[in-house]
Amino acid sequence: CGIVGYTGFQDAYDIVINGLRRLEYRGYDSAGIVLEDSANKFEVEKTKGKVDDLVNISKELKGRANIGMGHTRWATHGVPSDRNSHPHLSNNGKIAIVHNGIIENYDTIKTMLTEKGFTFQSETDTEVLVNLIQYFMDLNPEIDFPTAVRYALNEVYGAYAITVLHEDYPGVLVVGRLGSPLAIGIGDKEYFIASDASPFVEFTKEAIYLEEGHMATISLEQGVDIRTINDNSKIEPEIQKLKLSLEQIEKGGYEHFMLKEIFEQPKSVHDTMRGRLLVDEGVIKMAGIWDHVERFKNANRIIIIACGTSWHAGLIGEYLIEEYARIPVEVEYASEFRYRNPIITDKDVVIAISQSGETADTMAALKLAKEKGAFIYGICNVVDSSIARITDAGSYTHAGPEIGVASTKAFTAQLTILTLIAFKLGKHNGTLGNAEFMSLIAELDAIPKRIEEVLSSTHEQIQQISKDFVETTNFLYLGRGYNYPAALEGALKLKEISYIHAEGYPAAEMKHGPIALIDENMPIVIIAPKKGHYDKIVSNVQEIKARKGKIIAVVNKGDRQVSEMADYVIEIPETSECFSPIVASVPLQLLAYYIAVYRGANVDQPRNLAKSVTVE
Ligand code: G6P
Repeated sequence: CGIVGYTGFQDAYDIVINGLRRLEYRGYDSAGIVLEDSANKFEVEKTKGKVDDLVNISKELKGRANIGMGHTRWATHGVPSDRNSHPHLSNNGKIAIVHNGIIENYDTIKTMLTEKGFTFQSETDTEVLVNLIQYFMDLNPEIDFPTAVRYALNEVYGAYAITVLHEDYPGVLVVGRLGSPLAIGIGDKEYFIASDASPFVEFTKEAIYLEEGHMATISLEQGVDIRTINDNSKIEPEIQKLKLSLEQIEKGGYEHFMLKEIFEQPKSVHDTMRGRLLVDEGVIKMAGIWDHVERFKNANRIIIIACGTSWHAGLIGEYLIEEYARIPVEVEYASEFRYRNPIITDKDVVIAISQSGETADTMAALKLAKEKGAFIYGICNVVDSSIARITDAGSYTHAGPEIGVASTKAFTAQLTILTLIAFKLGKHNGTLGNAEFMSLIAELDAIPKRIEEVLSSTHEQIQQISKDFVETTNFLYLGRGYNYPAALEGALKLKEISYIHAEGYPAAEMKHGPIALIDENMPIVIIAPKKGHYDKIVSNVQEIKARKGKIIAVVNKGDRQVSEMADYVIEIPETSECFSPIVASVPLQLLAYYIAVYRGANVDQPRNLAKSVTVE
């Protein structure tokens, strides 16, 4: 979910609505706004649907207030509906809250409050929290509003970022955080609150990222007062300078963020290597790795934990690190790892991969690994994100903000970092000889160019191909070796945004099951570059051909054998096998994108998904 809050001299309605649009990638099942008008009364509008739907019913609130807050929701407790939308009000109507996260013990608290006579309009855990705040204020009229919020937060467990307003405390915003991110933008006579800095970058470059277990009381008169939630100790705020620019979070002429981000990949891969890959000197500079290189070298094994697309990057990381650095690697879904009492010792290195750096399962898995003494390393895209901050060391992917819900440039940037890590460790461990190292890094340096070539040579062709698959209901994606995870990722892209069922498989495994699905109606995307089990793939393609499957082949320029059997041929430049997932992913992203566009789907905001999943 996304939260925006504002107090200052500008129209709070505009700031909140525009801010919610920027945060819509975090969830878009429903949206709501509350403003404190000049008579210090709440004006609330909320609805199922997107921010546009909210605007349709709330236009009359424009120009009414200089303080307010809003929410865009990704449903957890309770279906998306007007009633379950945020903000939620307390029974006396005086306290309003917006919340991101889950209150796990809401049921017990709800029972207690119900016994005390409280009633509930929605099925949400959030409404329980706002009434708990009222309960503390009713119980003890001596305590002030921020104290009541603090008392309530001490009773709940789970994950949250909240913003709360009280009609009797005009001009005061109270915020708190545990698990879910919250940034406070510091302007000149104005303050902003948001789940990330994008809603306020054009107004200020100064922000405080609230730490875990901290809350803040914010008003124009008193400024920002930060306290610990558990014992009310005062905390000195640490003000950071934002590097985000407005241009980075706008579409810049593209129809969708996803297309813009696909086309940004030559730059984002280059930016991820910038300052790290020094080809002329024959060096890879990565302080995070170098400072702990012996931990890596002597590790029993490396465990990579991640979710979604980042997990696919992790699988390719396994191939890379095992091949070049000869360190055993395991890759696990964070959500599985954390609940199965994994065997971890202080000899293990755990790498978390996360675009947002906020994914709740990945964060929790990492905390568990840390408790068990492992060395924990982060590969995140969002600077200063929660995961980036709890890890012992890490490397940022400098892909820039990724707004499209389906991950594209973050994925190829993750592969770039993993490649750099594998080569660096390989060189240090002596498992990657100098000559091969030199030739690989020269090739890596030219990968942004290869991506550019693929974009320009395949873009139009893929638009054409996509038109033939608008009515298709199933897809199979196959690859071997490094391109098996690339096939998984290609399938994930398609299902996320087009809602066509798609499965990725190791090409040779096809005969153990999925082959039963193949007939003339089944399109099969097969990734078959020259380097990497090509001959074996040729046999797999023959097996498909014999069953009349429709073949879309991703092959190297000049390919003959697979191309002759394929119904559609997409050519990519030839590279060493380890780089082929980066290059091959680009046409698969375009294919998913255009099929989804032609099906009329909302590619930047696919149904039911959210960019950053801060609940488990
Ligand atoms: C969500 C997104 C996916 C993403 C996954 C992991 O499910 O919709 O695109 O791959 O989370 O996110 P992370 O930010 O940890 O990489």
